[in-house]
Amino acid sequence: MLLDNKTALITGAGRGIGKGIAKVFAKNGALVILSGRTKATLDEAAEEIRAEGGKAECIPCDVTDEAKVREMTEEIIARFGRLDILVNNAGISREMPFTEMPIEVFDEIMTTNMRSVMLVTKAVLPHMIEQSYGRIINIASAAGLRGLPGSTAYSASKAAVICFTQSLGDEVRKVCRDIRINAICPGPVDTEMFQKSERREFILAAGGDVNSCETMGEAALFLASDMSGCMNSQVLNLRGFNRW
Ligand SMILES: NC(=O)c1ccc[n+]([C@@H]2O[C@H](COP(=O)([O-])OP(=O)(O)OC[C@H]3O[C@@H](n4cnc5c(N)ncnc54)[C@H](O)[C@@H]3O)[C@@H](O)[C@H]2O)c1
Repeated sequence: MLLDNKTALITGAGRGIGKGIAKVFAKNGALVILSGRTKATLDEAAEEIRAEGGKAECIPCDVTDEAKVREMTEEIIARFGRLDILVNNAGISREMPFTEMPIEVFDEIMTTNMRSVMLVTKAVLPHMIEQSYGRIINIASAAGLRGLPGSTAYSASKAAVICFTQSLGDEVRKVCRDIRINAICPGPVDTEMFQKSERREFILAAGGDVNSCETMGEAALFLASDMSGCMNSQVLNLRGFNRW
């Protein structure tokens, strides 16, 4: 039970990678707080976790909404007393040629994938500093390490998440050594986002393995637990090959 007595907030946890991470964390003893926009989906995921013997609570929240993010964080501290682990997982992707991409789409992707990571982190980090303990895991993407054609906004948003992780990890290290901030860069993962992606065939043709949400959960568990003791400001690259 690597996460006994730990409280973990996972954004975008109603399905896909977020749900996979929540399940692995719960199996390892954490109380998981599932966050996302759709209450019914969150309730279903929480029920699944409880049926497997885990502890799960739901707090609906759109992570692009600054006021709602603040409210969610205050509710967590009021109800559970502390927050040990934050997984910034919520994200969106829309693929199209750059020349056809409306600026609104670029803004939406940046707001959801990057600005929301900043918003949730900004709300949660002061509590971690106060309790002198914290783990923040940002779900970036392999597309943030090597830009994916047809996916300029998404790739740029994930590259920004990687640099945000590195900058903040180094900054916070000076304040508290037991707060660690790392990123995960998954390759293709078998979720709605990947299966509906227009880039799916391109990625598969390039030889990409499609990984499971549970595998992502196990990597997040490593970063959340003491098993990754010396890792801070780092990027865990979860793909079976080097290039698209
Ligand atoms: N699936 C892949 O191949 C893959 C690869 C690399 C990185 N990722 C990243 O992993 C993360 C999870 O992706 P997934 O594949 O599980 O996708 P998904 O679409 O299945 O799940 C994403 C979740 O985020 C939620 N979400 C989106 N916008 C939100 C908002 N504004 N507020 C709250 N919740 C919001 C969605 O409702 C959904 O529950 C994303 O950040 C994605 O970019 C996915």
